[in-house]
Amino acid sequence: MSYDTVIRGGTVVTAGDSIVADIGIKGETIAAIGLGLDSARVIDATGLLVLPGGIDSHCHVEQLEADGSIHEETFATAARSAFAGGTTTLIPFSPQFKGEPIAAHARDYAARAARSPIDYTLHQIITDPTEAVLLEELPAVVARGTRSLKMFLTYDPFHVTDGEYLDVLAAAKRLGAMVCVHCENYDAIRWRSKALLRAGHLEPASHALSRPRVVEREATHRAIALAELVDQPIHIFHVSCGEVAEEIARAQARGVKVTGETCPQYLVLTAAEMARPGREGAKFMCSPSLRDAGDAEGLWAAIRAGTLDIISSDHCGYSFEGPHGKAISGADADFTRIPNGVPGLAARMAITFSEGVAKGRISVNDFVKLTATTPARRFGLYGRKGSVAPGFDADLVLWDASRCMTLTNVLMQHAIDYSPYEGLSVTGWPVLTMARGQVVMEEGVVTFAGRRGCFLPADPSPDAKPRSIVPDGFDAALVS
Ligand code: URP
Ligand code: ZN
Ligand code: ZN
Repeated sequence: MSYDTVIRGGTVVTAGDSIVADIGIKGETIAAIGLGLDSARVIDATGLLVLPGGIDSHCHVEQLEADGSIHEETFATAARSAFAGGTTTLIPFSPQFKGEPIAAHARDYAARAARSPIDYTLHQIITDPTEAVLLEELPAVVARGTRSLKMFLTYDPFHVTDGEYLDVLAAAKRLGAMVCVHCENYDAIRWRSKALLRAGHLEPASHALSRPRVVEREATHRAIALAELVDQPIHIFHVSCGEVAEEIARAQARGVKVTGETCPQYLVLTAAEMARPGREGAKFMCSPSLRDAGDAEGLWAAIRAGTLDIISSDHCGYSFEGPHGKAISGADADFTRIPNGVPGLAARMAITFSEGVAKGRISVNDFVKLTATTPARRFGLYGRKGSVAPGFDADLVLWDASRCMTLTNVLMQHAIDYSPYEGLSVTGWPVLTMARGQVVMEEGVVTFAGRRGCFLPADPSPDAKPRSIVPDGFDAALVS
């Protein structure tokens, strides 16, 4: 067989294996893996790892917010940053706002996403689950290939009540969709924030005090208990510490279908960063909050145990200086008025590899699972994305496991004017990224002029299949 490209002599890493082999690529897909493959175009991967392209299953890109502002990271700049860091598929969020149908923004977001140079599928945010949303709009959303819904148990413009959350869980169960949950207690955060403001604690460091671990733990426990009531699988987003992961582990031990992710910011940053002088601390404000030195080990223990099985970036494209970013409410705004979230598209793979594989906490196969294979399976992309195998898209990363780098904002290649990881040393770095057979990054030079990413309609996920165990045998979700 003849190939358009052969990647020769690298160590091909999947979730289960690491073997030295050549990869034959025809068009946009992997045609063969073996030895002695030949082509007019050979990419030498000797001494490098050949990984499946990363899948960032939680990132905010060009997303409209309820106040009319829009995330400053566009699909074009997000693609550049993702390719620079070894990621080839994104799963960002199509918004819904209270008082509006999903349709109010779906077409607009789909149009922006359609200009994406990187392949993507979508999560649908649900903030206002009216009867029309549950019975008419959600079935249409799923039919279009969006099979995961995000619910927020906190944040003023997004927050849903427990009753609304239950309604969406039931609808998801009927439709075979996954539900992803932001777990923090809305009232507890408001209560503590008001007290902090009354006491004159306006600075970014108060963000951590407004939402300690117990606020996240309580909401995680509740999110799981209510999902158990409905018998609907859920995925917990951005778990910040071991104490919260323990809630997930306890439910998993009972057989409940709940999974969880964490993000690099919780593995390498701490709340102490928010106490930097002036507004600098705003660069590290995300929710749940960063925790303390020592919390990362709890997360690694949960990752090794399989309790947390995805590492996403939760990338948020808010600039530090720009008028639409962290300073949107003014340079002196109190901590409750500073947008939450940190950028991390390009840093995700490198930090996970460095802290995980290079420091001996996980195997390189675990790294592939956490950053590509499990996100693909969970969100209905597996078979096309998430592994290195014949028939899969030729989304590949050549990875130098021993290259040492110091992270800078320039290396991130995003649209944002800072990186929370500035100055962090990592071991392991992508030297070439290929997306559907096209080299889109080589030695940091990203090139994709005119490239169109594909919208990937999600398949039903085995992880979203209910257990068919409902309390006392009454399935309330079937009574819509
Ligand atoms: O602080 C964060 N994580 N902001 C992004 C929105 C979200 O909650 O995922
Ligand atoms: Zn969230
Ligand atoms: Zn997020």
